[in-house]
Amino acid sequence: MAIRISRRDFAKVALSSLGLATRRVLIVAALAGMTAPGHAQGLPPDAAQVKARATEAKMTDDERFGLLRNLMVVNFKTRKRDDRVPKDMPQLAGWTQGVPRLGIPDLLFTDASLGITNPSHGRVGPDGKPDSGTALPAGMAMGSSWNVPAARRVGAMLAAEAKQRGFNIHLGGGVTLVREVLGGRNFEYFSEDPLLSGLLGGEVVAGTQANGVMATLKHLSMNNQETNKFRLDARVDPAAHRESDLLAFQIAIERGHPGTLMCGYNKVNGAYNCGNGPLLQDQVKGQLKFPGFIHSDWQAVYGWEFAAHGLDMQSGAQLDEQEWFDEPLRRAVADGKVPRARISDMVRRILYAVYVSGIDKWQGPQGTPDLAQHQALALDLSRQGVVLLKNDKVLPLAPPQKATIAVIGGFGHLGQVLGGGGSSLMEPIGGTTLDVRLGGEGLLARVPNIRLIAPGPVQALQEQFPDATLVYDDGLFPERAALLARRSDVVILNLIRYEGEGYDNPSMALPWGQDALADAVLSVKPGGIVVLQTGSAVSMPWRNKAGAILQAWYQGQAGATAVAEIIAGKTNPSGRLPVTWYESVEQTPRPKIVGAEIAPGSADTMVEYKEGAEVGYRWMAKTGKEPLYPFGHGLTYTRFAYSDFVVKGGDTVRASFTVRNIGDRPGADVPQVYLTDANGETRQRLLGFDRVELKPGESRNVTITADPRLIARFDGKANTWRIGGGSHRIVLGPDAQTVAASANVTLRSRSFGR
Ligand code: GLC
Repeated sequence: MAIRISRRDFAKVALSSLGLATRRVLIVAALAGMTAPGHAQGLPPDAAQVKARATEAKMTDDERFGLLRNLMVVNFKTRKRDDRVPKDMPQLAGWTQGVPRLGIPDLLFTDASLGITNPSHGRVGPDGKPDSGTALPAGMAMGSSWNVPAARRVGAMLAAEAKQRGFNIHLGGGVTLVREVLGGRNFEYFSEDPLLSGLLGGEVVAGTQANGVMATLKHLSMNNQETNKFRLDARVDPAAHRESDLLAFQIAIERGHPGTLMCGYNKVNGAYNCGNGPLLQDQVKGQLKFPGFIHSDWQAVYGWEFAAHGLDMQSGAQLDEQEWFDEPLRRAVADGKVPRARISDMVRRILYAVYVSGIDKWQGPQGTPDLAQHQALALDLSRQGVVLLKNDKVLPLAPPQKATIAVIGGFGHLGQVLGGGGSSLMEPIGGTTLDVRLGGEGLLARVPNIRLIAPGPVQALQEQFPDATLVYDDGLFPERAALLARRSDVVILNLIRYEGEGYDNPSMALPWGQDALADAVLSVKPGGIVVLQTGSAVSMPWRNKAGAILQAWYQGQAGATAVAEIIAGKTNPSGRLPVTWYESVEQTPRPKIVGAEIAPGSADTMVEYKEGAEVGYRWMAKTGKEPLYPFGHGLTYTRFAYSDFVVKGGDTVRASFTVRNIGDRPGADVPQVYLTDANGETRQRLLGFDRVELKPGESRNVTITADPRLIARFDGKANTWRIGGGSHRIVLGPDAQTVAASANVTLRSRSFGR
C-alpha cells in the first residue's frame, strides 16, 4: 500500500496502528433514494400523480393557464405593485393564484437559500414590525462545514420561518457548482464538487419538505458567472455536464425530491436554459426522471415556445417582455403549435408537486418558529464554517495580561458582514448596524450593499478577552494602522470584500487597498492574525507575513461571535474548504471573466467550459498544479490520525478506515476518500467523506460506499454511465492534495443507469 505524505502538515495525518474503533459508522455516499419521496404532510408519489391527473381534468382553461405563471409582489418605492395581486398579499418573490373550488392553494414563492428575505423591508412581519428572519451564514460556510445532517436542520428552519408567513414554496437550494473563482454569487453556493453540493442541497430540500413547504433546487444550469448572464451562452460537453453540474442536481433530486427546479438566465449550448429542450426535456425530465415542475428565474423567459421545450411556469411574468404563458401560449395552443397535452402536463406537474409536498393541506400563516433554536443553528454553522487556513502556532491566542489588541479595518467596530448582495440578502432579526449602499444599475441597482450586523469583531473579541484593551483602526491609512500595530501586543486584520448577485469580481484581489494595508501592518508586526470576510477565495500577497489566516466567509445572524471564539480557542475550528483556494486566477481554466469588457446585455457572450467535468480540485489534478490551499483543507487545534485503510473493488469502491483524535482537545475532522487514477488516467473525484467529532483519544471507524456515478464516465451517445474496469487508485486524506493512505483496487467493467 503506497503511502506518501505530501507537503501538507505531516503531524495532522499520522498513520499508526491505533486501537480499534469505538464504533462503526456506515456512510453511504449519495446512493440514490436515500430519503423516500413524499413528505410529512404529502401524498406518496403515485397517489399524487393520480390526484394531479384527476384535478387537472376538472379544470377550465382559464384555471389551467392561471397556474402557469407567477407574479412578483414587491412594495418598492421604485416599482409599482401589480394591481392584479390581492391587496392583502404580503411582499414576496412570486404569487400564483390557486383554484379554491378544486382545493388548489395560491402558490407563494419566497426567497432564499440563507433565510426568508424581505428586500427593502417591503413586508410587515408577524409582529407588526418590518419583517426580518434568521440570517444563515453564506452557502460557502455551510459548504465548509461538510455537515450533511446539519443541512437538513437548515431546511427545517427555512420551512418553519416560511410557514409562519404563509409562504409554501421556498426558493433556496442553490447547487450551482463554483466554477469561477471570480464569480460574484459564489458565496451563496455550497462548493465546486457535485457530491458535496448534491448532498447538502438534497438535505436542505429534504428538511424543507419534511416540514410541509415545497423546496427548489437552482439554477439549472451552468449559471456560473453573473457577467452578461442574460446573453451568455455556456458551452459544455453534454456528457461532462452530466458528470458535474447536472450530477449535483441529480444527487440532490434523489435525496430531497424537490417539488420544483428553477432554470437560470443563461444559455447552455445555444439555447436559453428555460427554453432548452435537450436540457429540460431530455436530460432533466427524461434521463433524471424529474417528476415535478420547472419554473423560470425572474426575467428569464423569451417566448411561449419555452413551454414546448420543457418550461412549466413563467416566474415574475410581468417582468418579461410579455406574459408569454398567458395569451401568447393560449393562442399557440389554439393554432396547434403547442399540443393541449403539453398544457395538461405542465399543470399536472405543478399539481403533483403541490400534492407530494402537502402544501394543499394548509394555508395562511402557520406556527411560531423557535427563533432561539434558529439563532443557535446559525451560530453553530458559523462555528463549523470558519476555515483556519494558516496557523504558525499563533492560535489559539493567549495574549499577555492587559494586552492591547488592535483590530484593523473592515468596519470591525460596527459589525460583521451579514451576507452577499442580491436575492438571498436578509433583513436579520435585530436589524443591521450599517448598510453601505454601493449603488449599481438596472433592476439590481439596489442590490450591492455591505450589510453589517452586531456583534462585530471588536465587540466579540472584547467578550472573549475581557481584560484586554481593544483598539480599532479603520485601516484607511496603512501608515496609521502600522503605528497602532507597532504599539499593540496583538494585531487582528479584518479584511472584507463585498460580493453579490449581478456582479463578478474583476480579480482575486481585495478591494480598497486592503492588501497594502495588510502588508504595512504585517511588516511591522509579522505573525499577525488575518480574518477574511469574503464570498470567494482571494489573493493574499502578504500571507507569508501573517501568523494565522481565517476564512470567515459571510457570517449571517451570528456576527463575529464564532470567529472570536475560534481565535480565543473556545471553539476548535473544523471548517474545510469546499472550493479550491488558487494561488492565482492563472491557475484556473479562465483567468478572466469572459464578457467583462462589454456593457451588460449589449452583446452575446460565449463561455467555453473546456474543463468539462474537471472543476476545481479536479482541474488541478488534471493540470498538475498545486493550489495555495486545496479543496478540503482546514486546520484545527487538535490532530487526527487515520489507520486501517481497507479498500475493496468490484462494482464500486468500498473503503473503510479508522479516524482517531490524537491531540489534546475535542475536535471534528473531515476525512475524504478520492479516486485519483482510473486505469492510468489521472482523474480525481471525491467519492465520499464524513464529518467526525471525536474527544481526545477517541476513534471511529468510517465506511464509504461510493456512488458508482462518481467513478464512471457518462457516455452521451449510449446515454449510460460506464466504468472502464481495471485498476483504480483510491486515496484517503484530509484534503484533495494530501495522501494519508492509498490503495489500488480493481473495478469490474460495466455500464449502468442513466
Ligand atoms: C433572482 C435569482 C433567484 C431568485 C429569484 C427570485 O434573480 O436569480 O435565485 O430566487 O430571482 O428573487
